[in-house]
Amino acid sequence: MPQKYKAVRGTADVLPYDSYKWQYVENKMIEVSRLFGFREIRVPVFEHTEVFTRSVGDTTDVVQKEMYTFDDKGGRSITLRPEFTAGVVRSVIEHGLTNEALPLKVCYIGACYRYEKPQAGRYREFHQYGVECIGAPAPSADAEVIALAKYLLESLDISDLRLELNSIGCPECRPKYQAALKEYFKSHEDKLCNTCLERLDRNPLRILDCKSEVCSGLKAQAPVVLDFLCDECKTHFEGVKRHLEAMNIKYVINPRIVRGLDYYTRTVFEFIAEDIGAQSTVCGGGRYDGLIEQMGGPSVPALGFAMGIERLLLVMESRKAAFPRPKPCEVYIAPIGERAAEYASKLCGLLRAEGFSAATDLAGRSVKAQMKYADKIGALYTLVLGDNELESKVAVLKDMKTGKQVEVNLPDGLITAVYDQTINSAMDDLTKSIEKMEGLFNINE
Ligand code: HAM
Repeated sequence: MPQKYKAVRGTADVLPYDSYKWQYVENKMIEVSRLFGFREIRVPVFEHTEVFTRSVGDTTDVVQKEMYTFDDKGGRSITLRPEFTAGVVRSVIEHGLTNEALPLKVCYIGACYRYEKPQAGRYREFHQYGVECIGAPAPSADAEVIALAKYLLESLDISDLRLELNSIGCPECRPKYQAALKEYFKSHEDKLCNTCLERLDRNPLRILDCKSEVCSGLKAQAPVVLDFLCDECKTHFEGVKRHLEAMNIKYVINPRIVRGLDYYTRTVFEFIAEDIGAQSTVCGGGRYDGLIEQMGGPSVPALGFAMGIERLLLVMESRKAAFPRPKPCEVYIAPIGERAAEYASKLCGLLRAEGFSAATDLAGRSVKAQMKYADKIGALYTLVLGDNELESKVAVLKDMKTGKQVEVNLPDGLITAVYDQTINSAMDDLTKSIEKMEGLFNINE
């Protein structure tokens, strides 16, 4: 008995009857990125492990618990990307892209891997769309990146996600906050989980991000980062808020957002959807002014965000958002016999060259079976071709929805074209006969 294989836990197949939703969303992402001047960057799915440990931070859940790390056959430690920012920054530094016109604006779409407990909206293989804006220190950049995310959400018909905003300060003011946090959590040491006990000395900010219930319960009374911001961070934050207001982008300040990755400075933000369960953050991002230098590049400020595509789709599905369906097969040509089959292949080619989606028999089936197939794939029109049709050069085009039938002239030249390749005249004849169908063949709308 052969083994029945199943997809690995936390991964999912996107099946042919669903992939158009992904294509629709991804096309919008590319289109909106272009409107805002972001060009696509493609980076490898795996990197040297250090790329992530140095940037994401070795006290984060992502690095401590969630990375798919393995030694390759050459003994190098390799990690499947848990996110894109680190790899993008590595690439930008490696190729000296900070020497180009700044800000450099890039976007990406692709799979990420985190060993998390799977649940609705949380997977081990998931997909992100994100942008990174490199070399943009002004508050207007923070607002612009947020505006892009907002614009995209609106163009996907989900305009009511809540934008939450915070500033987590800079290396200047953060140590004071960290000290206050440490003092607070030290007084509750007995209640912390083991991972957070470790974090207490090394990075108390991470305790705010802990997913365990005990530690989460302590968060409410913890000191708030906004009370510790230095003057520059305060001014920057005020600037971001003013820009958002000027663009009429509504936000709420949530001083509890710290984000789960270590590289952030100043602005952090999330877009939250209430109606998709516990994994409600659809988009998260912020500024990471120190990361490029920390990774061995020049001192260039940067910021960005990433959206989880699965979560985005969950929100769209839950709101019954419209996913425009791609056109099905427009004409199915059902040949009877070898000569008709050759003609059908040629006719398909001509129709495709005209932009119509055309299909014909690839399984040597009877006409009856072919018509069944045409019905199943949702073909709009069918055309049966037998010897009679080839002789008379007239065939019947059937509208599969209404059952209405119309006689069409088979392009004269086409029959010749099968043998002597005079495609152009065949094309003319075919186009003319399509025109003769008086709007019935209006599959181009
Ligand atoms: P992140 O918050 O870790 O940020 O992930 C961004 C988004 O990816 C989340 O808001 C969520 O929608 C999605 N996501 C994360 N983990 C999973 C999962 N296990 N299953 C499904 N979806 C998930 C980052 O990754 C940063 N690199 C964002 C960024 C870019 N910051 C600056 N530039």
